[in-house]
Amino acid sequence: MASVVGVGTPDRFDDHCFIRACRGLPHERVPVWFMRQAGRSLPEYRAIRGTGTILDAIKNPDLSTEITLQPVRRYGVDAAILYSDIVVPAHAIGFGVTVTPGVGPEIEEPFRSAADLDRLRPLDPVVDTPYVLETVRQLVGELDVPLIGFAGAPFTVASYLIEGRPSRDYLNTKSLMLNDEHLWHSLMDRLADLAVASLTSQIDSGASAVQLFDSWAGALSAAQYQRYAAPHSQKVLSAIESTGVPRIHFGVNTGELLELIKGVGADVVGIDWRVQIDRARLRLGDTVALQGNLDPAAVIAGVDAAVSGTREVLALNAGHPGHIFNLGHGVLPSSDPDVLSEVVRVVHTEGAVGSADPT
Ligand code: CP3
Repeated sequence: MASVVGVGTPDRFDDHCFIRACRGLPHERVPVWFMRQAGRSLPEYRAIRGTGTILDAIKNPDLSTEITLQPVRRYGVDAAILYSDIVVPAHAIGFGVTVTPGVGPEIEEPFRSAADLDRLRPLDPVVDTPYVLETVRQLVGELDVPLIGFAGAPFTVASYLIEGRPSRDYLNTKSLMLNDEHLWHSLMDRLADLAVASLTSQIDSGASAVQLFDSWAGALSAAQYQRYAAPHSQKVLSAIESTGVPRIHFGVNTGELLELIKGVGADVVGIDWRVQIDRARLRLGDTVALQGNLDPAAVIAGVDAAVSGTREVLALNAGHPGHIFNLGHGVLPSSDPDVLSEVVRVVHTEGAVGSADPT
């Protein structure tokens, strides 16, 4: 690729295939990890998770460290993702967030008016989320693969704070956005600050890469995304650029937004299963790496469908070094871990990276 990130502090994983793939540099084999690789699809997770909410589990660094390590041990994936949640910063500053099992984030008093801005004070990670930093530090001491830290992008976090619970149509969110642009940008600006503080603290504690999840950005038209979401995601990603840590940016249903998502400053664009990887590369060019994009439903369909889907993704990537294999969205809770093991095996044995330096 023409541009190479990595101007920050040297990292002990700079030569690791996952980090090199994020930078589009030549390496031996296609790296693979899965969004939601930790969690309910794993019997060992269900065994140690306990009965509290996920926010309670996240506040226990020993438990969160173990949960993060479980899929790395089982699957032999090339990266770990911190066990946490995108609503942790808002919860930690007292916005009144819970995460209900089987439902997702719920807000006691959803964001409605300018008065609610006062409920979104800045995050001081050392004071507000010391448990996250402790988990990152423990993991960095134990892992022999890079740790991915993450945050929710302002739009996706706003959609939870405004809707009050997971939504299909985002009507309250879009109403606020379209009716009160000034308040909208004030809210998004505070959420961008939360993401910057959280990501910076994870990087300072040793995370080797970060992913900004804008999972629900696909609810917006391209024009809406550009006007109402992109400037705030751009603020988040540029605030951490100087660290040199690769920045992955992901959303679902973003086929119409890919160029804009690249434009906010991602080093790696995560694509869902709706966009073929070769077409995404034609559209985005060679200066970003791509992450994805096996349909999570192919894992549910069984080992044959998952393996042929995996081979298809590898074939469409055609040995390009800027590819991180993943699903097109998170692992579904009813997935069979043995099928995911087989996907990892196929990526590792068949996912050759072309030797030609594309730069
Ligand atoms: O393995 C990993 O990916 C790391 C952990 C992780 C979780 N949430 C743990 C979790 C990550 C990266 C997230 C991010 C997250 N949280 C996103 C962005 C990623 C995506 O899926 O698009 C979003 C939208 C959320 C909000 C959220 N939290 C939802 C929609 C849910 C599911 C609700 C449910 O129970 O079905 C959660 C809860 C949650 N976050 C669980 C896990 C493992 C399951 C609940 C539990 O085990 O108690």
